[in-house]
Amino acid sequence: MFDYSGKHVFVAGGTSGINLGIAQGFAEAGANVFVMSRSADKVAAAVETLKSAGAEAGGASADVRDHDAVAAALAAAHGSFGDIDVLVSGAAGNFPARANDISSNGFRSVLEIDVLGTHHVMTAAYSLLRKPGASVINISAPQAVVAMTGQAHVCAAKAGVDMITRTLALEWGPEGIRVNSVIPGPIDETEGMRRLAPTPAAMAAVAGSVPMKRIGQKRDVANLCMFLGSDFADYLTGAVIPVDGGWSLNLPGTALDPVLAMLDARKH
Ligand code: NAP
Ligand code: COA
Repeated sequence: MFDYSGKHVFVAGGTSGINLGIAQGFAEAGANVFVMSRSADKVAAAVETLKSAGAEAGGASADVRDHDAVAAALAAAHGSFGDIDVLVSGAAGNFPARANDISSNGFRSVLEIDVLGTHHVMTAAYSLLRKPGASVINISAPQAVVAMTGQAHVCAAKAGVDMITRTLALEWGPEGIRVNSVIPGPIDETEGMRRLAPTPAAMAAVAGSVPMKRIGQKRDVANLCMFLGSDFADYLTGAVIPVDGGWSLNLPGTALDPVLAMLDARKH
């Protein structure tokens, strides 16, 4: 087991799904955990969940597209728990749509949440990170490495996130800050999978295409993040690491075509 007693973990987008699972993993390992997302109700519920795991927990609502709001949330976290040991940036937006069906605003929304949001979270946190020693974990997706129909916006956004990871690993390495990306595979009971595999048949097809022959669990992602935040990963930076049962090795770029066909049928 990892021991995060007394450590401060901040999770941007940490109020549901995979990111809340990551926050819970750290909370159960003894960390003080602060979560941030747009919805005040989701923040309150997530803080209750984390406290019931025995953790000291706090939260604030902010949109990652708003630099000042993100900075205020980080300042509140720093006021509560001190320098940040592990910073997770996981807020994201996704919907399946062919490029021709995405408006300028739709494309911009996803780019701004994922790419600009990651930039805001990292740069607003910079002065509050433990130096040396902090570990930054950006949550990416298989779309960063596999081109997929219906995902031009997400492919562009997550590839951008991973290049921020690599660039800031270079810039911040000398100060003892490590920066890595994690690529979750298909994770059970998440908003992402509800959007991209909206029927039992689609979920079954995904499960069948994973070399390990199972859908991932939130805990699978949390376990990798706890490793990345720990001293065991002390020489690991600038990496983009899948935790996906091998899915990205076997993922056809046309995986979403049945979902897109369903959307086409609804249009007519
Ligand atoms: P999710 O539950 O919808 O998680 C997204 C989180 O980000 C929520 O807490 C949401 O809360 C917050 N958020 C969204 N927009 C935000 C904004 N503009 N500002 C601040 N917070 C914002 O989805 P998920 O499926 O678990 O995905 C979590 C992460 O894993 C994402 O980065 C996703 O790309 C990645 N991922 C997911 C899968 C999968 O199988 N689901 C696979 C690969 C990668 P609010 O609504 O309160 O803002
Ligand atoms: N297909 C095409 N365009 C879509 C769409 C879809 N399914 N869903 C939203 N859009 C477009 C909207 O039409 C709008 O463009 P327009 O103004 O030209 O009409 C644009 O995206 C912004 O939508 P809006 O709902 O105003 O944005 P938002 O900032 O409130 O929400 C989203 C951002 C669209 C990404 C929303 O889905 C979201 O909040 N997602 C977070 C949760 C999530 O995606 N979880 C899974 C992570 S893997």
